Amino acid sequence: MSPTINRRSFLGTSTLAGASLATGSLFAVNLTEKTKKLKVGLIGCGGRGTVALSDFLEACKILGLQGEVVATADAFKANAEAAGKSHGLGPERCFGGYDAYQKVVASDCDFVVMATPPAFRPVHLAAAVEAGKHCFIEKPVAVDPVGARAIIATGAKAATKGLGIVAGTHLRRTAEYRRNKALIDAGAIGAIRGGVVRWNGGGPWIAPRRAEESDASYMTRNWLNFTELSGDHIVEQHVHNLDVAVWFLGRLPVSAEGFGGRARRETGNQFDFFSIDLDFGDGVHIHSQCRQIFGTHGSGGEIFTGVDGICYGSGKVTGKAVEVAPITVDSGNAYVQEHVELIRSVLAGQPLNEAKTIAESTLVAIMGRISAYTGSFVRMADLLENDKSALYGLACSPTALDFEKGPIKLPAEVPPVPGDGAKFPTRA
Ligand SMILES: NC(=O)c1ccc[n+]([C@@H]2O[C@H](COP(=O)([O-])OP(=O)(O)OC[C@H]3O[C@@H](n4cnc5c(N)ncnc54)[C@H](O)[C@@H]3O)[C@@H](O)[C@H]2O)c1
Repeated sequence: MSPTINRRSFLGTSTLAGASLATGSLFAVNLTEKTKKLKVGLIGCGGRGTVALSDFLEACKILGLQGEVVATADAFKANAEAAGKSHGLGPERCFGGYDAYQKVVASDCDFVVMATPPAFRPVHLAAAVEAGKHCFIEKPVAVDPVGARAIIATGAKAATKGLGIVAGTHLRRTAEYRRNKALIDAGAIGAIRGGVVRWNGGGPWIAPRRAEESDASYMTRNWLNFTELSGDHIVEQHVHNLDVAVWFLGRLPVSAEGFGGRARRETGNQFDFFSIDLDFGDGVHIHSQCRQIFGTHGSGGEIFTGVDGICYGSGKVTGKAVEVAPITVDSGNAYVQEHVELIRSVLAGQPLNEAKTIAESTLVAIMGRISAYTGSFVRMADLLENDKSALYGLACSPTALDFEKGPIKLPAEVPPVPGDGAKFPTRA
């Protein structure tokens, strides 16, 4: 089938990344002497956190502001010091330990960037909002239903305090995804009847245990392989694609039924692959699949099939000719754009608050994981609303607070067994 979107009306009304700058003329940024310099603190000084901090500073530049790093925190003080040093901070402003986040939120920063493993996000966000800070929170934001609902509650509190919260869902910041969302909303592919979202690729890094190392240290360094800290890769990584599904469909799935397993991992307690059927109601199903096994086929993205056409993630859209408004972004770097949008919204007095949105997408991934781990059919209502459900109170242990109190006990490094305990029927 050839594309039926009218090229002129489509291209003529869509402006892509970098081609057009949204500036103060579009968004009323009322700068005062005080807001010309924005102070930022970082919690979680690893790969993403250190880059996110630079992205925040770059966003300040784009907005004609100055950014200043005033404090860093990491479970390991050396990481906090390394991150701080590259921004001119002395060791007295770089804090180590599982309670180090408290020092950052108690500092004179206006904004906090959070990029620890997701298990810690609910506690850290609550503390930062309590202290009146605007927050950038890396995805995912929880590893269990209790944590996801805590993020929603903290987001509601932030709204009452006029605080901004933006999540690290970078796909939502690209002009291409925004254009396709606008095309879908304008009816280009008609009602979405089904689709597939996937993130299939190689395995994760592993951090082998060191001699004489504590359980907490080993688990923290090897967090990507422990469900209690990462949520498993369906949550930690595939949440990006699940978030696109929720965004494009405009609603949450009502239930999940799926499976997964482990063939190759050598540490931790996670699965290598998941295959989940997400029921969005009204007969609409999205197949979610993700795999982390070295040497296997790699593919990723989203496909949505509507009654009138098809949308390929951020790429091609086939269907009806529709008009959409120009899409403008400030930076072709979606990771910088996240911070531009947070800062601009705060300065405009209309802070973005994405806590609920990212908590719900995180919960969709958690729902899929629970279904695969247990072999059960899982309803979203049992995770979000039904406090009579055994799943409502599910909290992975050790928790963030267990780490803070210490010492913690390392979970067994074996994956869950679906239908655990059920016996094979015997035949004489
Ligand atoms: N948006 C994206 O594309 C993207 C990409 C990569 C990672 N991430 C997310 O960013 C987060 C961090 O990932 P990463 O790749 O930087 O991991 P990383 O292991 O490189 O860094 C995590 C850092 O957090 C520190 N840490 C752990 N527990 C802590 C605690 N309780 N308090 C303070 N510091 C603590 C660790 O010591 C480490 O330095 C994760 O949520 C991950 O999913 C997002």
